[in-house]
Amino acid sequence: MDSPKQKILVTGGAGYIGSHTVKLLQSIGKEVIVLDNLSAGHSNAINCQLIVGDLSDKKLLDKIFDDHEIDSVIHFANSIIVEESVLFPNRYFDNNVNNGRNLLDAMVSHKVTKLVYSSSAAIYGEPHYVPIDEEHPKKPVNPYGETKLVFEKILKWYHEAFGLSSISLRYFNACGGSTDARIGESHPVESHLIPKILQVAAKQQEVLKIFGNDYPTFDGTCVRDYIHVEDLATAHNLALHKLDSDQGVFAYNVGTGKGRSVNEIVNTCVEVTKRMIPIEYSPRRPGDPAVLVADPTKIQTELGFNPIYSDVETIIKTAWAWHQKLLVEKQREFETK
Ligand code: UFG
Repeated sequence: MDSPKQKILVTGGAGYIGSHTVKLLQSIGKEVIVLDNLSAGHSNAINCQLIVGDLSDKKLLDKIFDDHEIDSVIHFANSIIVEESVLFPNRYFDNNVNNGRNLLDAMVSHKVTKLVYSSSAAIYGEPHYVPIDEEHPKKPVNPYGETKLVFEKILKWYHEAFGLSSISLRYFNACGGSTDARIGESHPVESHLIPKILQVAAKQQEVLKIFGNDYPTFDGTCVRDYIHVEDLATAHNLALHKLDSDQGVFAYNVGTGKGRSVNEIVNTCVEVTKRMIPIEYSPRRPGDPAVLVADPTKIQTELGFNPIYSDVETIIKTAWAWHQKLLVEKQREFETK
């Protein structure tokens, strides 16, 4: 039975993974409020109450918890660009750690005790072994990963001191669009592999640069664990469910356990889009490990997580459908100007 206090506050809920999670929660009858500063999110990606604001605003946070019966929180609102975090670690510690703590403090003072946190495989740093389980050493190689790890540590101490229960979901490579093509991936600055390949397929870019083909992998290109965004959304719902019955501090990898190389992804994009995708091998991108693949045993056995959209073909089909929809919208905007 659901508790009477059913509102879920989703910070960063207008962003990529956030908006897919909001959509899923609403589809199963949950009441959701989104807090988003729209620095990377899109108000038209969600269809629920949106409060435009920032986690640096402690008064706003207090007001939200005063005004609404919040049962639990999902915290997505983080800065996520690895390269930027190296240039401006201050901004990353401010937003991902200090602002995140404002949220935790508001939760504690309003006796809200359940949090699902979007963490990252970036907390592990260079893999010592693959697949990576949750016990793998945690040595982030950039400030972005460090802020995620610091926040996970803060969660542990907030549980000891204030009884705040949490689940950190350590995402591997989030990708794909919603299966109804309504929402998808659209970052202000695009650096992720699949959208960049699709830009080339759509002739918005001339060539895809593949960063390195001399890695110790079967075809020389980097291997990653790609997880469909709707499967990721499901992981959040499973995590919320666990927090309804279990108290404590938990962490799970969210991946499939299967690795795909950059070349394999490009080849599937060619098959799905039926377009030419010119490639060019370029030097390695600094900080890219050769292989990042999750051991998802823990989330499978403890939460019953079973990804259903994360085969590469479905990932690319849904990402391409969304990409084409975006192109049509842009064209319409252009024509009406
Ligand atoms: N790549 C290219 N060309 C591109 C873009 C990417 O060859 O134009 C390659 C990268 O070198 C990498 C792979 O494609 O080998 C995937 O790159 P992404 O940028 O899509 O994703 P990352 O694996 O670098 O990053 C992901 C998450 C981060 C997280 C990181 C570590 O997006 O948030 O995993 O967990 F920090």
